[in-house]
Amino acid sequence: VSHGRKDSESEKTRSAKKNISDFLHRDSPQNKNDLQFPEFICVCSQVLLQVEIYEIEGNIFRIKINEAAPLRARYEVPDVLIKEPTTQRLSVSQKEAGILVLTSVNKDYTLQVTANPFQVELHSKGETVLSMNSNGLLYFEHLQPPPSDRKSTEKQEDLGLWQEKFGSFLDFKAHGPSSVGVDFSLHGFDHVYGIPQHAESLLLKNTSDGDAYRLYNLDIFGHKIHEKIGIYGSVPLLLAHKPNRTSGIFWLNSSETLVDINTKAVSGSAADTAKQRAVPLTDVRWMSESGIIDVFLLMGPTAFDIFKQFAQLTGTQALPPLFSLGYHQCRWNYEDEQDVKAVDAGFDEHDIPYDVIWLDIEHTDGKRYFTWDKKKFQNPKRMQELLRKKKRKLVVIVDPHIKVDPMYALYSQGKDKGYFVKDRNGQDFEGICWPGSSCYLDFTNPEVRKWYADQFAFKTYKGSTNILFVWNDMNEPSVFKGAELTMQKDAVHYKNWEHRELHNLYGFYQQMATAEGLIKRSSGKERPFVLTRSFFAGSQKYGAVWTGDNTAEWGYLKISIPMLLTISLAGISFCGADVGGFIGDPEPELLVRWYQAGAYQPFFRGHSNMESKRREPWLFGEKNTQIIREAIRERYVLLPYLYTLFYRAHTVAEPVMRPLWVEFPGKLETFGVENEYMLGKQVWVGEQYSPAIWYDFRTFIRMEDPGTLKIPVTLDNIPVFQRGGTVIPLKTTAGKSTEWMIDVSYELHVALDTEARAIGELYLDDGHSFQYLHKKQFLYRKFTFHKNILSSR
Ligand code: NOJ
Repeated sequence: VSHGRKDSESEKTRSAKKNISDFLHRDSPQNKNDLQFPEFICVCSQVLLQVEIYEIEGNIFRIKINEAAPLRARYEVPDVLIKEPTTQRLSVSQKEAGILVLTSVNKDYTLQVTANPFQVELHSKGETVLSMNSNGLLYFEHLQPPPSDRKSTEKQEDLGLWQEKFGSFLDFKAHGPSSVGVDFSLHGFDHVYGIPQHAESLLLKNTSDGDAYRLYNLDIFGHKIHEKIGIYGSVPLLLAHKPNRTSGIFWLNSSETLVDINTKAVSGSAADTAKQRAVPLTDVRWMSESGIIDVFLLMGPTAFDIFKQFAQLTGTQALPPLFSLGYHQCRWNYEDEQDVKAVDAGFDEHDIPYDVIWLDIEHTDGKRYFTWDKKKFQNPKRMQELLRKKKRKLVVIVDPHIKVDPMYALYSQGKDKGYFVKDRNGQDFEGICWPGSSCYLDFTNPEVRKWYADQFAFKTYKGSTNILFVWNDMNEPSVFKGAELTMQKDAVHYKNWEHRELHNLYGFYQQMATAEGLIKRSSGKERPFVLTRSFFAGSQKYGAVWTGDNTAEWGYLKISIPMLLTISLAGISFCGADVGGFIGDPEPELLVRWYQAGAYQPFFRGHSNMESKRREPWLFGEKNTQIIREAIRERYVLLPYLYTLFYRAHTVAEPVMRPLWVEFPGKLETFGVENEYMLGKQVWVGEQYSPAIWYDFRTFIRMEDPGTLKIPVTLDNIPVFQRGGTVIPLKTTAGKSTEWMIDVSYELHVALDTEARAIGELYLDDGHSFQYLHKKQFLYRKFTFHKNILSSR
């Protein structure tokens, strides 16, 4: 089965499906907590497939399928799981010949493994939650000897699978075809979410008569809305929700992946049939170009359990330094030192808070990262000292491509040490990017990452100071004139792995190395801030992501909410979209509205393209400046709450920004809402739906109707509401930046529920170091309002 072709019923699939059979089970598993059944046989090829089934503590099951004895090792994604998961012993019984029943330790779950046809069904207390291969779409292209070694009887089309043409590009598959895939049925579910990143709606759509969702990190300038093509980053985590249960499927594979979704109604159980009730069912088919099948079934049963289970595997959100939750001012490009000074002063002049000014690629000497354009930035340290005095920070861009220039130390060292990705002939892979001819560091190699991290040392990175932080861009990686503007799949990485195996991990590794570098330069004391464009499952551990090159149009503002919600559901809380829209010029009303939206989203940065007109917040007349100022100030006043939410994301994996359904899991009418959302449990941003008691965030007016409300929204108000029964910590006023606000007092907003009670919390620490972790230097207060007494503990 050729990867990428959606001929689901090709000859090979059909025969594989028919022939994967005949397993014999061993009487007792060998002294292990997992079970292994190495006896699945693909009869047509006599290739053994080995299935391993694990129970992992915390309601997670893992199913791995690999060839029992592949010709060479197949790629198993490294470095994404934070540790080898702790397995538990499933107990085994045989139901009848060819059917095994595995029971979880707490007896809540059973897995029924059927031999012929091969199928796994997961039951919880009599309810079938999920089944695997129930549509028989399991396929596994086993590795074969190269064509020259093959018997002359082999068909020509099979030889064709060893190379593939893409436009003018020829992809040589050194190890032949190796794709894998399988289907899952989610019983009773017709709402599915996740698998970022697409410029698509929150609810995943049926793909039966269109394109599958693609997970393949690409640099797509001016990407369109409502397309299933993958952009920039991928997290192969899908969530399914119904009123009494949330489930998750985490497909751990970093090669190009397609996900087909088909929601339908089927006739239900006997009881359902009697009531003539059709039961929803969602089929999800995963297909990857390479690797193995390694899938984690997250059994929830609540959405918050899923978030914890995913974090248990891939880690939680890094706790951001407080400054990075402030407002960021970016542009391609702030021209020179003077420009930076003037923009910085503009914020003070107009009394608008901001924390960070950003420098794009033009600040470097000819796009050689870690250097400065000496004409424009004659004295970068002086510039940073000025910003430091203003209690502000600088972020500079550091891309992964390295200009081919023997005089450029990074290039010559990288070349001497053999640190670049190779082409299929063993030469350094060269592609075109901003600097022209470039080589690409092989971040999959731990030695390269260590060396790269060391480049951020203050003595090595000339002109850098400890207020300088980093932005990793173009790390899909972007290769101009490459196939689909990225690296050839037959390029070769560390340990001889082809790029195809790990494409979606490239940006993940660059951000990992960068974050390590920033921690190292401070001798382990300071929290890093690194923004990345490309990401994978687990990127949350290294910093923030943004949604890339959006356009200054209303539709992109609208789609930014479901895009950010989807990224948040996939574990990455620290996410944002370019305020104003990167490409083009927003009309003033759009810009104002975008600021108002961004002020209530986790990562808040204004950014614009080279060709776009300048758009600092004070360039659109007094009235608009006033509204933008208000929005940004509201953000700063809200920071104690936001920081507390990030602490919860960091410690207990709760997404900062979350869809309504997560908070109201039993309310069907919230399941598709994507123009409103919650910040934590307590703040609702939106204008229509209110399945609780709410108070207007500014006027404190109580919304009387607990049903659906329509709230008039004028240009200068942002529809934000506080949930009854909550206490929200705020600052009494905004300052010039977060650091200016250290001594500003706190204020608590207590909003009562129907029983005149409320609870809430506040997390506080120094805002920048790891002392909270190593020395427990933090304050974590819980507030309770009860019987007219507010207490804090
Ligand atoms: C592409 C990024 O998405 C954009 O934000 C940046 O300004 C340009 N690269 C130039 O570095």
